[in-house]
Amino acid sequence: MERLDKFISTQTSYSRKDIKRLCKSCEVTVNDRIVKQSDVKIDPENDVVCVCGEEICYKQFVYYMMNKPKGVLSASNDKNAKTVIDILPQQFRRKNLFPAGRLDKDTTGLLIITDDGDFAHRMLSPNKKVYKHYIATLDKELDDTVKERFENGIVLSDGTVCQKAFFEKLSDSRALVKICEGKFHQVKKMFLSCSYTVVELERVQIGALKLDSHLAQSEVRELTKSETLLVFNGEIDQF
Ligand code: URA
Repeated sequence: MERLDKFISTQTSYSRKDIKRLCKSCEVTVNDRIVKQSDVKIDPENDVVCVCGEEICYKQFVYYMMNKPKGVLSASNDKNAKTVIDILPQQFRRKNLFPAGRLDKDTTGLLIITDDGDFAHRMLSPNKKVYKHYIATLDKELDDTVKERFENGIVLSDGTVCQKAFFEKLSDSRALVKICEGKFHQVKKMFLSCSYTVVELERVQIGALKLDSHLAQSEVRELTKSETLLVFNGEIDQF
């Protein structure tokens, strides 16, 4: 058994104070009966709790896929700029959500938002070899030396050595790049070290999980259990 306000507050973005107010104004029901006291005990496994007519289903963790638009920060909060958490629709909001890994403000595409720290850690650790797939559009035509340089391990201008990366030329000035590290501005810096500027960057896949082509930019949907597992099911050895 658990206190009603504790149950609701861990599953939503409502504070205990909000829940008290909602109970007083008859917006909270347990098994279809209005509950005016926020400190009553409920059975989270069997009782049906609704707030403002919406059922609150217990989930230990949530995993969302967002098609990140340009101009939004991959952060939980920021004093000045809009973040990916700020643009989450109300029905997806809950405490402790954060983006698992960062995309630059001007990068678009697949971003996972979760409250599961272990999942994020596993996905981001270079040792786990979870490849992130990016489509980069460059400022000029690609020459044939770039593929070899990416596949041998690029050395950035500050001497940092990058792990070998998968590289496939898609058109004159577009390439698919797969990396399992997440250094700051990594893809842009890798191209810069070959004298190319990235003019557009989109992440299209993480492990074997592809960006849902039905998700417009800024849209979000919850991942299924099997989709969360796909993150760790990519090709382990890309080379
Ligand atoms: N590499 C970059 O340079 N930027 C991103 O947003 C992601 C990877």
